Amino acid sequence: MNRREFLKYSLRAFVVATFGKGFYNTTVGQVELVRVPVKVKNLPASLRGLKIGLLTDLHSSFVVSHELIQSAARLIMSEKPDVIVLTGDYISGSTKFLSGSIGKFENQYVIRCSNALSQLRAPLGVYGVLGNHDFWSGQESVKAICGTLSEQIGVIWLRNRNVELKKGGVSFHLLGVDDYWEPSCSLTAACKGLDANSIKILLSHNPDINDDISVLKERIDLVLSGHTHGGQVVIPLLGQPVMPSKFGQKYRTGLVRDGDRQTYISRGVGCLLAPIRLNCLPEATVITLT
Ligand SMILES: [Fe+2]
Repeated sequence: MNRREFLKYSLRAFVVATFGKGFYNTTVGQVELVRVPVKVKNLPASLRGLKIGLLTDLHSSFVVSHELIQSAARLIMSEKPDVIVLTGDYISGSTKFLSGSIGKFENQYVIRCSNALSQLRAPLGVYGVLGNHDFWSGQESVKAICGTLSEQIGVIWLRNRNVELKKGGVSFHLLGVDDYWEPSCSLTAACKGLDANSIKILLSHNPDINDDISVLKERIDLVLSGHTHGGQVVIPLLGQPVMPSKFGQKYRTGLVRDGDRQTYISRGVGCLLAPIRLNCLPEATVITLT
């Protein structure tokens, strides 16, 4: 193969990878089920095999269909998780930053999101935290999201607090914080009263919370996050044009290790502004502790 042919085939492969199979429309598509075994240090025998269903970044809006969110909920339920967690951005309305019909907060999308998630049930409960977009239309959207999802699905909100859960007689703690970019985010409050020896799982929409964990020297075993959308638009060789994280690409997606602490970042379900994902499928995640 000469140089000219090599360039021709490389260009063709790039175009196919970028605009061919990798293109995904969030108004019609299906979600991928991602199973993630996570090895946790000193995990008690009773917690081995504990299954956590994780959904994030639903972004119920005119570019994300009811069916897409519903298919994510169906996949989670098919795995029979012990506990289900939701890590924020239920809607996209953002009156704080976007004007006109794109930024407008519309309660119909909160109701649509809640209806699409209505089948979620788990023996240890369904827990949630809020993302940046949930805050960006002010108290009106926060109140609507918290009220609707707790009334219709029984979501228990972890707004800078923790709960103690038990499996096989052994306790572990589930913690949650408000979105990292909000002044109300408090890891200190979320960690209040924790038993030093129990397993701790933190729900934080934004994986940048790792910065606070390092500063406070809290021992957290696992952080569950979304926010990055896995890059949403991933261009082969060039990467992700937009990455809303102070750590750049580090917490883009997947399992990231910081010493004994691990963070799993889901690509999420929905998307923003246009119904497009590129080489970055929507995801419903089931974490199994090992
Ligand atoms: Fe998001």
